Amino acid sequence: MAAMIISSSSCIHPIFGLIVLMILPLLFTSADPDALQDFCVADLKASISVNGFPCKPASEVISDDFFFDGLSKEGNTTNIFGVNVTVGNVRTFPGLNTLGISMNRVDLAPGGENPPHSHPRSTESGVVIEGRVLVGFVTTGNVFYSKILTAGQMFVIPQGLVHFQFNVGEGKALIFTAFNSQLPGSVIVPLTLFASKPSIPDEVLSKAFQVEEDVISGIKSKFGS
Ligand SMILES: *[C@@H]1O[C@H](CO)[C@@H](O)[C@H](O)[C@H]1NC(C)=O
Ligand SMILES: *[C@@H]1O[C@H](CO)[C@@H](O)[C@H](O)[C@H]1NC(C)=O
Repeated sequence: MAAMIISSSSCIHPIFGLIVLMILPLLFTSADPDALQDFCVADLKASISVNGFPCKPASEVISDDFFFDGLSKEGNTTNIFGVNVTVGNVRTFPGLNTLGISMNRVDLAPGGENPPHSHPRSTESGVVIEGRVLVGFVTTGNVFYSKILTAGQMFVIPQGLVHFQFNVGEGKALIFTAFNSQLPGSVIVPLTLFASKPSIPDEVLSKAFQVEEDVISGIKSKFGS
């Protein structure tokens, strides 16, 4: 890839090639920082707090630290959204610590939705395993991109952008998603705005959504706040 860029830019000004070379490392920076050792199985109970988790002593690391069967089971989708996201991140699979990746399993009931949300620390890619799913995201310029996907088809959500998955098929749907972060974080828009603790004042949301305050308190009550 680097060679390609150099040869295509060599017919332009050499300075241009130099600038491209200087920018390349920035383009390849991943969401999580690079590891400084082979592995660092997280000690989730450690009392010290660092950017990530401290490592469990290498002498205590076993094969099972690098395997996780948590995504093998279907999640229970009997809830208001009709979705269950089973996470395979550093908190559930400590072997991921410092390795900069994680995966989720998303089960969707018929008509179920993984509501608009964003991952502040990660880009997301995903593949539909079963069903028909409308996947969409909105850019910072408010452009909406979406497509209906079926089994075997893949999607990507750029880091931090608000997106959703909606089951538009007759039966249930299953998606596996992958992240370039051990802990992508999820800002679930309806819950962030209407179910935070403490609650965002109704007048703030009333102004933001241009509706009366009773509409806001009505929405909040749906989420038990
Ligand atoms: C997701 O599924 C698991 C396993 O069935 C269940 O324990 C959990 O409560 C479900 N979560 C939600 C939000 O429904
Ligand atoms: C799924 O969750 C619902 C609501 O919590 C519960 O009533 C139901 O028994 C659960 N189903 C299974 C198979 O665990």
